[in-house]
Amino acid sequence: MANENTLQNIISHCKEYGFIFQSSEIYDGLSAVYDYGQYGAELKKNIRDYWWKSMTQMHDNIVGIDAAIFMHPTVWKASGHVDNFSDPMIDNKDSKKRYRVDHLIEAHAETLEAEQAKDLLDKLDQVLSADDFVGLKQLIEDNKIKCAISGTCNWTDVRQFNLMFATEMGSVADDANVVYLRPETAQGIFVNFLNVQKTGRLKVPFGIAQVGKAFRNEIVARQFIFRMREFEQMEMQFFIKPGTQKEWYEYWKETRMKWHLSLGIPQDSYRFHDHVKLAHYADAACDIEYNFPIGFKEVEGIHSRTDFDLKNHQQFSGKKLTYFDTEINQHYIPYVIETSIGLDRTVMMVLSEAYREEDLSTEDKKDSRVVLKFPPMLAPIKLAILPLLKKDGLPEIAKELLNECRPHFKCFYEEKDTIGKRYRRMDALGTPFCVTIDHQTKEDQTVTIRHRDTMTQERMPISEVKQLVMGKIQNF
Ligand code: GAP
Repeated sequence: MANENTLQNIISHCKEYGFIFQSSEIYDGLSAVYDYGQYGAELKKNIRDYWWKSMTQMHDNIVGIDAAIFMHPTVWKASGHVDNFSDPMIDNKDSKKRYRVDHLIEAHAETLEAEQAKDLLDKLDQVLSADDFVGLKQLIEDNKIKCAISGTCNWTDVRQFNLMFATEMGSVADDANVVYLRPETAQGIFVNFLNVQKTGRLKVPFGIAQVGKAFRNEIVARQFIFRMREFEQMEMQFFIKPGTQKEWYEYWKETRMKWHLSLGIPQDSYRFHDHVKLAHYADAACDIEYNFPIGFKEVEGIHSRTDFDLKNHQQFSGKKLTYFDTEINQHYIPYVIETSIGLDRTVMMVLSEAYREEDLSTEDKKDSRVVLKFPPMLAPIKLAILPLLKKDGLPEIAKELLNECRPHFKCFYEEKDTIGKRYRRMDALGTPFCVTIDHQTKEDQTVTIRHRDTMTQERMPISEVKQLVMGKIQNF
């Protein structure tokens, strides 16, 4: 459907209508860090709530926690992040610009014919999975890949760079006080595994879900909120009996895809991508990719993490992290299937899917609109209440309806401008329903309800508006 220009239009729209702003904009911004404005924050919250509900409320055996961002530094030694959480990078000696090698090669592949691109990406997968840094550089040289800034092929060797942000805790800055900003929320779940299992009297299989901030010093951080240095993850670790990981991995692949489809996004906008090069903790992994305006890209990862994390935490902490399975009378360290979805990437996916530029011209008149066709349950505002005039008792009736509806869902009241302008503004914010209160309302207690997607209007009793909207925003 869309392309790079569409992404630019979405970025501009998000800024103009209060969804997403560059962080610290008045100081020229901070790279790859973004702030959510009044409508973006509502949209993000609705997505977060929907995920949280689908995990913790719709499953008997999944509970949610909220762990701190700072953790004991040994956590990151045990998890492998201190030694392994790095990306192969290469610097261009002329521009001094640093690139993630896989991104540099993938960007070059996009400029090639389909067959050549596939060949290059296959070779990339091979050298990456062999951790062959010399081979990676060779691939760049063989394909004469240039730096976009300097235009030269004058590259350094490929080196690894750790992506964690470090800071100091307490007043003395020495090595002993170094703490990291967590690069994933998952470890807060692993270190609390026994606390939650015991206090919740949970039996394997069970899951622990969490939503929270994560931080990564991404080198190539662009493409809007797709790759940020501060972002939010929605993660769930599902603890299972060793040996059952294959069936649970398949179960969670299917369950997560169903969740994605429930956002009203069609199947052909998604695909699975199986990992060739596995992360240091995984024995199987795949991504759910969505067809963004910049092509198919990862939104969610599903990882079979074995007992890697719990086993290492047991070893590094010296504390037993085994579970006693009463069905087989055995102690074991559970295996884990993880589902990990980026909240900001999901916001970008929902925005990309919803954004439409529609030509409404007729023979007599040129006309167009920009509309965000959000599923009603995710829309920042559910109902706009618009008195036709600022007089004749119409605002009073409108405010009565506002007071009836606002405890149940987010409403917006507006009496300025022509009704046409007010509708267009609501289209641009993705509001699924607008009701207009006019003089007829005073006579027969009916209002006009306008549907965002079809722009059709119908009259209905004012007493039925709340119920109609409630029915449409119901999510389970
Ligand atoms: N605990 C596993 C884990 O963190 P990951 O594949 O590195 O796995 C999971 O990240 C998800 O987090 C990704 O699918 C993506 O949606 C999101 N994510 C990762 N890095 C991100 C970044 N720099 N900016 C925005 N979202 C990011």
